Amino acid sequence: MMKNTVAELLRSDKIAQEVLVKGWVRTFRSNRFIALNDGSTINNIQCVVDFENTEEEVLKQINTGAAVAITGTLVESQGKGQKVEIQASKIEILGVSNPEEYPIQPKKHSLEFLRENAHLRIRTNTFSAVMRVRSRVSYAIHKYFTENGFYNFHAPIITGSDAEGAGEMFKVSVFEPNDAPKTEDGKVDYSQDFFGKETNLTVSGQLEAETYAMALGKVYTFGPTFRAENSNTTRHLAEFWMVEPEVAFMDLDGNMDLGENFIKEVIKDVLEHCEDDIIFLENRLLQEEKSKPANQRSEMSLIEKLKFVTENNFMRVSYTEAIDILRNSKPNKKKKFQFPINEWGADLQSEHERFLVEKHFKCPVILFDYPANIKAFYMRLNDDGKTVRAMDILFPGIGEIAGGSQREERLDVLKDKISALDIDEKELWWYLDTRKFGTAVHSGFGLGFERLVQFVTGMGNIKDVIPYPRTPQNAEF
Ligand code: 4AD
Ligand code: MG
Repeated sequence: MMKNTVAELLRSDKIAQEVLVKGWVRTFRSNRFIALNDGSTINNIQCVVDFENTEEEVLKQINTGAAVAITGTLVESQGKGQKVEIQASKIEILGVSNPEEYPIQPKKHSLEFLRENAHLRIRTNTFSAVMRVRSRVSYAIHKYFTENGFYNFHAPIITGSDAEGAGEMFKVSVFEPNDAPKTEDGKVDYSQDFFGKETNLTVSGQLEAETYAMALGKVYTFGPTFRAENSNTTRHLAEFWMVEPEVAFMDLDGNMDLGENFIKEVIKDVLEHCEDDIIFLENRLLQEEKSKPANQRSEMSLIEKLKFVTENNFMRVSYTEAIDILRNSKPNKKKKFQFPINEWGADLQSEHERFLVEKHFKCPVILFDYPANIKAFYMRLNDDGKTVRAMDILFPGIGEIAGGSQREERLDVLKDKISALDIDEKELWWYLDTRKFGTAVHSGFGLGFERLVQFVTGMGNIKDVIPYPRTPQNAEF
């Protein structure tokens, strides 16, 4: 007999037919009602047990967490909360679960506790909803770019370059730390290492994506990136996924248009295809909000927030304008910012970004034209000689969700920048070649995939939107 998923059965018209379903028991009430979930939907299917005709041994093993196969007749449900249910005729225990030991009890667990049980937390409503949405966001991203004429390009994960120049890299080496060959001056001799040079896990696929954009026109990478930043915040992971489109013959205005349109379309897709999960997450958030003091509660529900983003224009503001707003802002004057804004040139911290987005403009903001010296070497220098064509997309509750720029396409300007920053030009010979052979205006950005999933699901901590988070002092599972 063919197995059906719970999702299929809940929307099916197989009334009075015999069906087979396999899943995990969420709860078993009154020796009669199994709430069964198989991951296909947030909703459980109710299976009614004929306990008089079921062996005692089987009844005892219908515990929360057990894997079961249930055969029975699909009928319209008498109870409330579900349209259909299964009148079980046969119950087979596929895998037992000891109720004393199973950590995921049918009650509310804290997110911290569930993080310690990340291999089982996916069996909760919250995490299954988040991970189904995450899967859809990923699909919507590939769909958006494919339908808009982009080619997916797989950037290398092991690389010799530090695209961001921030030096936050995980080294890749086959040497034993205490037994690495040394050069005459006592340094590790990487020429004898696996790749014959120093290598690391990539912090961004951008530089390689640029070379591909300069041939395929429109490309994007969507892969894992790694940063050894020692920041244990609700927005940082050491291993996260980044979406990086790169487009030839596109300037910064085009880049802002692309970023805005892309994010809106992906959110619309998720709203359309993950309705049950989003409604569940919205209610979860409403419950969570109730425990907060009234003045800290969000004015909008999750769905309202998502629709607000898809239906309103992002505000485009230059760094210089933003500094003026911040300098004259109440929290700055009352010395409420941890990092006060005194002069042009200051790097913006998350508190400033969030003030602009959440308090001042009350909508997503794209900041552009940042001071050159707080941004990476590859950004195009403006005619003023002090700002670059950078852009950061800032979101409520998240802060920076994407960052990008128009790239410096002029070889001489780029070379000056590289030498001023003491970067070894020889290491970037292949990157500089794109400026020697048919250089052209081009732009792109990187969107933090988990930060977008955080926004879409309303989850407060980035550790709860990736299956197995890697953070300082933590690489369990
Ligand atoms: O702003 P970033 O550092 O930009 C780049 O890496 C560029 N090379 C992208 C490009 O132009 N192609 O990182 C891009 C985004 C950030 O806006 C943020 O959303 C996310 O990546 N991000 C992180 N997400 C989670 N954990 C971290 N440690 C992150 N660091 C950056
Ligand atoms: Mg950035």
